[in-house]
Amino acid sequence: MKKLNANLINLINILKDGEYHDGNTIGKHLRTSRSAIWKSIKKLQNYGVQIDSIKGKGYALREPLVLLEKNKIQSQLKNENIEIIIFESVHSTNEYLKVLKNSKKIIICLAEQQTQGKGRLSRTWYSPFGKNLYLSCYCPIQKDISELAGLSLVVSLAIVKTLNAYGKDNCFSAKWPNDVLYEGKKISGSLIEIHAESHGSSHAIIGIGINVNMLDDSKQINQAWSSLQQVIGEYIDRNQLCARLINNIVYYLEEFSSFGFVPFQNEWIKADCLTNQNITLRHADKKINGKVKGVNMQGHLLMELKNGDLRTFSSGDTTIEKK
Ligand code: BTN
Repeated sequence: MKKLNANLINLINILKDGEYHDGNTIGKHLRTSRSAIWKSIKKLQNYGVQIDSIKGKGYALREPLVLLEKNKIQSQLKNENIEIIIFESVHSTNEYLKVLKNSKKIIICLAEQQTQGKGRLSRTWYSPFGKNLYLSCYCPIQKDISELAGLSLVVSLAIVKTLNAYGKDNCFSAKWPNDVLYEGKKISGSLIEIHAESHGSSHAIIGIGINVNMLDDSKQINQAWSSLQQVIGEYIDRNQLCARLINNIVYYLEEFSSFGFVPFQNEWIKADCLTNQNITLRHADKKINGKVKGVNMQGHLLMELKNGDLRTFSSGDTTIEKK
């Protein structure tokens, strides 16, 4: 577990033009030795960053890279009272936040790499260095746990809104309860863990993974996936994306905390890609087939079963049946 340090950020900021820079000159700029620069370069290469080195010329980044930077994110936030922690590498941003208790304010944990990124249902979340967004949000909550079913949907809507702001005809959709898709391919998912403490206070850890600048390097993902760069066609500034996402999440959480899921129903209808689809729902070790009929006021899934019965589900995992 290692916090992201300024040396690495400054080094990448010099190399980000894609040109060759020699160790001596970089060292002078950053007031450090050539061997310290060499060590940082090795470290980045070990993380999987592609850096070419030629004797006499120095080092050059083979593909664009801008690291996450606390100041760049914080300066774009609407709420000034949010703490941000950024790791170079961490097991899982959700797991890291689990050790914190009783914070009254929102804490955001970000990482350039996760070594044990977690998805729902004990899946792993592929988390290569510097490519994507791995964000967890510690959020104190005042609601009863029974009222939190809609929270996953509200988080998905905040992600959809953030991605749609990149201007591609509202092409991102939400798949109940926690997936965000582009043309049926997964671009983002969230993992929400609720912690209730004995003296009545509780908090949610909302973990969000967004595939941002990942292009081709992941045979590690065993389902159809996409990334924001693939959709938009250009390198995405993750600091800006992150700030926009935090602003949307914080606003949506406030609304949800005051008014529940009801104000989000119309937005869900617009974003939802499951209604009127035949799906398989995995719920409590069972597989249930049926047609989706939307969601109710709490955000529970409405499903018409093969025998015509209408049932509601508060949790589960959905797959659209192939036609
Ligand atoms: C899913 O779609 O299965 C949920 C994926 C959630 C991944 C994010 S990445 C940041 C946070 N830390 C984790 O270990 N998981 C979540």
